[in-house]
Amino acid sequence: MKQAYESISWEEDHLSILDQTQLPLREIYSDVNTIGQVWDAIKKLKVRGAPAIGIAGAYGLYLGVRELDSKNFTSFNVELNRWIEYLKSSRPTAANLSWALERINQTVYANKDKELDEIKEIILKTAKTIHDEDKRVCKKIGENGSELVKKQWNILTHCNTGALATGAYGTAFSVILHAHHQEKDIHVWVDETRPLLQGARLTTWELQKAGIPFHLITDSTAGSLMNTGKVDIVVVGADRVTANGDTANKIGTYSLAVLAKENDIPFYVALPLSTFDLQSETGEEIEIEERQPEEVTHISKSPITPKKTDAYNPAFDITPHKYITGFITEQGIVKPDFKKNIKKLFD
Ligand code: MRU
Repeated sequence: MKQAYESISWEEDHLSILDQTQLPLREIYSDVNTIGQVWDAIKKLKVRGAPAIGIAGAYGLYLGVRELDSKNFTSFNVELNRWIEYLKSSRPTAANLSWALERINQTVYANKDKELDEIKEIILKTAKTIHDEDKRVCKKIGENGSELVKKQWNILTHCNTGALATGAYGTAFSVILHAHHQEKDIHVWVDETRPLLQGARLTTWELQKAGIPFHLITDSTAGSLMNTGKVDIVVVGADRVTANGDTANKIGTYSLAVLAKENDIPFYVALPLSTFDLQSETGEEIEIEERQPEEVTHISKSPITPKKTDAYNPAFDITPHKYITGFITEQGIVKPDFKKNIKKLFD
């Protein structure tokens, strides 16, 4: 299963990213040479989707430390931790960003007796490992999740969870991709995903490239499709999942989960282990990113509301675990009791 594009690639001495704010109209790859440019790309959603944010952040940390001329490990470590906090501040909800940065931090500490130039190379190597691992993990998620999908099923999905949002294949999208390659004759309902239209702009682009049949729907169409028997399964991604299974994902996910339960439709969350946050017990502890009102009052920079209209724009919501049928991970499907079974994944 080969893909013609990658959202992120390391090119000898810099990062190349497919600018997702320009899709689907323009396929523009931008060179990213500094940690500041990585922060900006994450903040502006040029790179987006929890696993992709983690990968970009890891390379970004290397771009930051390679400029340092610290004389000893202690001062290097102070700067490293400053850069980690800086990168974390770009987007707070996606667990993969802090996961990737902390993983590098621990690796650095384990190698603290080495020369600083060597430590810098170890940081780049770890970023590459995080990137490669995500590709393998997402393939496994697709293989595991596709077993849930029966022939001729209609799958509903939200936001964008494909190769654009990960190292390759995607999470929920990987499930769809693998079911399609198993010739299950599936069809996908794609939520447009207001306000930034990740479904309409990005998931449709990826589905078209993969040759998978789909229809784009407005977010508010999902309920009536479920109520009239036109949805067999809902599969979404996640930005952060707490120890009890509460799930932060793109705004609108909670409504889908409640509607799915009401209509007896299985509701699955597909994610790598790196998206779990076991330090947080429940969804109440998750910080929800609030973005600019202009993302709601404007479409492609054109206003759609009267001047001075204020808008509330949380980027994510929390789906309580009671609405979730199961989690599709690289280690298999996790069913309730979530608290117990999620913990087992890490034992
Ligand atoms: O704001 P975004 O576009 O970064 O939000 C992305 C999502 O909500 C995805 O569902 C999630 O990150 C999982 S991507 C594999």
